[in-house]
Amino acid sequence: MFSFQLLSTLASTALLVSAAPSLPKAAGCDTSAATLSLPANQTQLVAPTTAPLFVALGVGVQNYTCTAATLKYASVGAVASIFDISCIDKTPAFATIQTTAFNAWSAAPAGVSPDTVGGKIGAATLLGYHYFVPAPSGTGLSPKWDFTSTGKFAGNSTAFILAAKAGDILAPTDSATNVDWLALNNVQGSLASKVFRVDTVNGQPPTSCVAGSADISVKYTAKYYLY
Ligand SMILES: *[C@@H]1O[C@H](CO)[C@@H](O)[C@H](O)[C@H]1NC(C)=O
Ligand SMILES: *[C@@H]1O[C@H](CO)[C@@H](O)[C@H](O)[C@H]1NC(C)=O
Ligand SMILES: *[C@@H]1O[C@H](CO)[C@@H](O)[C@H](O)[C@H]1NC(C)=O
Repeated sequence: MFSFQLLSTLASTALLVSAAPSLPKAAGCDTSAATLSLPANQTQLVAPTTAPLFVALGVGVQNYTCTAATLKYASVGAVASIFDISCIDKTPAFATIQTTAFNAWSAAPAGVSPDTVGGKIGAATLLGYHYFVPAPSGTGLSPKWDFTSTGKFAGNSTAFILAAKAGDILAPTDSATNVDWLALNNVQGSLASKVFRVDTVNGQPPTSCVAGSADISVKYTAKYYLY
């Protein structure tokens, strides 16, 4: 099992010997054999029959506002950095990369960005950002995965997907702590036609709030598969 410390050491070592041709690629690996593993006995999230275009890790926050009428937190979007983890698929680190990343993110002092945390966990190259924008319908917010500003799509204005939720299940493990697993379909953009959020760690708000309390941001990580 890779520890965070081991990954950090590997990442620093990789920097020192980055000219060596035998090192594994850090990003952009073949995803044709990658598979999305979903719980049985549910029909909300259906794995596509094609291979994913991107196998990614999100590190960020889920934002919530306190609804006075119910004294419950309601979602008001999220902001996350999206890293390429295609090159660790099929390695032992893959199954727990979201936990490795969350532990590093959780321990990071205020002011340390997800980009910095991602850079410390090895095998993680920034693909882009996930955030929310006003929905094209004019009502509410829509999630967007935007790869237009970094990596191989930098400067390509269509390299994003704005999506709408198509399926939603409780996280199979500790659903009071870990945000739901989702399927989303393309509304705009040419980056992908579907997004799945799975293997979520943390991100749920407290079960209740006090009227007038400020908005909160709850740290989370997840895997994102784009098809
Ligand atoms: C599948 O879901 C049904 C209905 O919720 C439940 O009764 C059944 O035990 C579940 N089966 C498995 C294998 O989880
Ligand atoms: C979420 O909260 C963070 C601060 O924690 C803020 O930077 C970001 O703009 C917020 N995003 C949304 C969509 O509310
Ligand atoms: C721009 O990005 C899209 C994917 O979002 C891709 O299909 C298209 O080929 C890219 N265009 C160029 C000119 O690279």
